[in-house]
Amino acid sequence: MSYGFGLIGCGMIAGFHAQAIADIRGASVVACFDTIPASADRLAKSIGCTAYSDLNAMLADPNVDIVTVATPSGAHMEPAVAAAKAGKHVIVEKPLEITLRRCDRIIAACDHAGVVLSTIFPSRFHESSQLIKKAIEQGRFGRLTTGDAYVKWYRTQQYYDSGAWRGTWQLDGGGALMNQAIHSVDLLSWFMGPVQDISARTAMLAHERIEVEDVAMATLRFANGALGVIEATTAAYPGFLKRIEVHGSEGSAVLKEEDITAWEFAKARRADAAIKQRMAGKTKTGGGAADPAAIGYHGHTAQFKNVLSAIRRGTKPLVDGPEGRRSVELILAIYKAAEIGRAVSLPLKSDPVLKARKTGLGK
Ligand SMILES: NC(=O)c1ccc[n+]([C@@H]2O[C@H](COP(=O)([O-])OP(=O)(O)OC[C@H]3O[C@@H](n4cnc5c(N)ncnc54)[C@H](O)[C@@H]3O)[C@@H](O)[C@H]2O)c1
Repeated sequence: MSYGFGLIGCGMIAGFHAQAIADIRGASVVACFDTIPASADRLAKSIGCTAYSDLNAMLADPNVDIVTVATPSGAHMEPAVAAAKAGKHVIVEKPLEITLRRCDRIIAACDHAGVVLSTIFPSRFHESSQLIKKAIEQGRFGRLTTGDAYVKWYRTQQYYDSGAWRGTWQLDGGGALMNQAIHSVDLLSWFMGPVQDISARTAMLAHERIEVEDVAMATLRFANGALGVIEATTAAYPGFLKRIEVHGSEGSAVLKEEDITAWEFAKARRADAAIKQRMAGKTKTGGGAADPAAIGYHGHTAQFKNVLSAIRRGTKPLVDGPEGRRSVELILAIYKAAEIGRAVSLPLKSDPVLKARKTGLGK
């Protein structure tokens, strides 16, 4: 069976979706839609698919089996719900949405329609991430003691000025955390498990005309007792590769973008030396640290293949709706903790009310 994809939102990342799908046998992009018809036309022309200027018309196209939603983050819900109602499988870019209520509405619509829902987190599909996850499941780290994510990136003022939605609460849903570091927040919580409570500080220090944070620091207590930190910024010139560290009583691993730079276990295995060697030169791009377009699409390809396999087998994809919701909840808890200056416990009962949504962070 061949699967037809429809792309919703034809901006920067949609081009990566098209490239990722082109690499999959038995899948092709058959349609695209954007509220700016010229953007849909441009993408359709470059890849050879039908451009629609009306979402419902695209969703009525029987050749479309799956949609990818790549609209601004706070505009994921409406097209995702419409696609589910039309019986299409739904793949949504990160973050799933910018509030828990909006995430839940997407999850409920897909459940109700019986379609597969997946949130895009390509880093989970990198071999290095999979190796660390497996080693944790095998207990190789002993007692997990610390899990940290460091995202010291750089975004120019021109980047924030390039789209009216960027850096706004309403459509970006937050700043360095909700837009950029969310990949690492997702990986860290996938590695370390649920978070029990969070303390945090956020600031907007080096940009103008944005409402959201460009620096965030959080300390975490995981449910398994381990402690950790998340440092996220888009104001660390010139931008450095993101890093995740997992430490335990019997082992440590450090992931720098796609490279494993530390892989040390008290009980070493014969395969460890080969893993260290193989995982040392994996990173082929700037990882988005300075230039948002300097990323690969192989993670998207692997994730789309995982979704197709879930559709075929009637199983869940690796990153389903609730998995996608998890990082949104964590980030909202960080924003709340920073605002009230006290620890916030998880899970959140509902969307926290954030004063910053009304006033912005200011300088
Ligand atoms: N996985 C990744 O590595 C990655 C990288 C970049 C962006 N993203 C995510 O992808 C999404 C889009 O980001 P981008 O950088 O491509 O933004 P962009 O501004 O380049 O593109 C967004 C496009 O959506 C269109 N659009 C806006 N509202 C729409 C609607 N209601 N229906 C249809 N089209 C609509 C705009 O006209 C524009 O063409 C965001 O959620 C972002 O967080 C993910």
